[in-house]
Amino acid sequence: MQKIKSVRDADVSGKRVLLRVDFNVPLDTSSGQAVITDDTRIKAALPTIELLAEKGAKISILTHLGRPEGKVVENLRTAPLSRRLSELLPGVEVTMLENVRFDPGEEANDEAFAKKLAEGEDMFVNDAFAASHRAHASIVGVAKLLPSYAGLLMEKEIEKLSEALAPIKPSLAIVGGAKLETKAPLIEKLAKIYEKVLIGGNIANQYKSTRANVFLPEDGLPQLEGMFDIGPKTKAAWVGEVKEARFVLWNGPVGWFEKGYGEATYALAQALVDSGVGAVIGGGDTAAAVVKFPFDPEKVFISTGGGATLEFLAHGTLPGIEVLR
Ligand code: 3PG
Repeated sequence: MQKIKSVRDADVSGKRVLLRVDFNVPLDTSSGQAVITDDTRIKAALPTIELLAEKGAKISILTHLGRPEGKVVENLRTAPLSRRLSELLPGVEVTMLENVRFDPGEEANDEAFAKKLAEGEDMFVNDAFAASHRAHASIVGVAKLLPSYAGLLMEKEIEKLSEALAPIKPSLAIVGGAKLETKAPLIEKLAKIYEKVLIGGNIANQYKSTRANVFLPEDGLPQLEGMFDIGPKTKAAWVGEVKEARFVLWNGPVGWFEKGYGEATYALAQALVDSGVGAVIGGGDTAAAVVKFPFDPEKVFISTGGGATLEFLAHGTLPGIEVLR
């Protein structure tokens, strides 16, 4: 398998670089204007932008935002992203292009649209790990047309998620979330790699374990209407499991935290902080649930991907990564 070329090794001085990022951030539009409620994904791309700027590249930044389905949607313009970026990187000059999904050619991976994106650019850098499960024009199409490199976030995501696919023992996986169909392939895969797999969240209401190392909650809250959170007995036992593990992979909150059933999810996050165990936390919801916890970034990696993280863990690669090889 060919190695992916790194932006670190690219000669970008004076060159025009098209940088694909995933600035698909949550927005609050209740005031009539789009306000960014979490800028984690913007911050995660800063090292690549800074590196390119320091090396003297002329940077054009490309992202999607939401699902405008090939049409211009006013609240999904990239102007607020551009403003936030210039607050985070004052003095760094970049051109922020308009939402790439305003054009139907993006999701269709249309060749003519990819050519339009590549026009006038010298090279392409993909730092949009979180969108690299989509075989779209700005992820796959353009990478076939220009010399292409992985950005620093992309490299880190691949490194950390690959570590999670070959965990140090004793290893523990926790899988939660709402929809079993999106998690079932992951559970099957992790059951083969991890010594123990704990299933929480709504998927525990639907999952029937047939494997000796896959565990469902012993008790749940509230008890009668189906489980919205794992119960106190299970919570105590799982906190103990986290503390005994040397590596933890966690995908999906174990309770419906948006509705106030977050206690066990927070207890597990706190156990990760206290034990200092190496961990990878993935999936947009999990990251949102535990964003306030003071994890040691040397020990705990929080993936920026939602669907992309799930797909990488299930298959070990993504279309947007393969095209960089
Ligand atoms: C995400 O938020 O998971 C990515 O930005 C991909 O977005 P999408 O599911 O709309 O393709």
